[in-house]
Amino acid sequence: MKRWFVWMLGIVTLIAVPLALAQKGDAVAGKAVYQKKCATCHELSGAPKAAIAKMMKVEMRDLSSKEVQAKSDEELSRNITQGTGKMVPVKGLSDADLQNLIAYLRSLKKPQ
Ligand code: HEC
Repeated sequence: MKRWFVWMLGIVTLIAVPLALAQKGDAVAGKAVYQKKCATCHELSGAPKAAIAKMMKVEMRDLSSKEVQAKSDEELSRNITQGTGKMVPVKGLSDADLQNLIAYLRSLKKPQ
């Protein structure tokens, strides 16, 4: 009886842990979305693409910078789905895409 319980606990943990991690967003999956949807204007490192900034006549901040990283996940999501300043909203992102993107953006943060 006891051994059965330990087995069940093990199985539940094996299922629950990846699920919990998936909910927080996956930076690797986020990078793939970023490459498709963001990399025309933002470098993979988060740095602005100089040609785009020049063309749009805007000072773009580095997405890895303190200022951008200080924004909450909600604010970043809003910037992406509703646009911010001269950035137009990015369409066609699922909730999971968005969470993965946020995880990727957080992974760009430079160690202080
Ligand atoms: C067509 C070009 C373009 C695309 C595509 C684009 N962006 Fe932007 N993004 C910009 C520009 C330009 C700004 C600066 C806007 C301003 O400050 O007026 C910006 C600003 C931002 C900001 C706010 C930075 C700050 O200063 O607070 C975030 C966050 C951001 N982009 C994330 C993304 C993500 C994530 C994607 C992909 C899902 C994406 N962007 C796609 C052009 C783009």
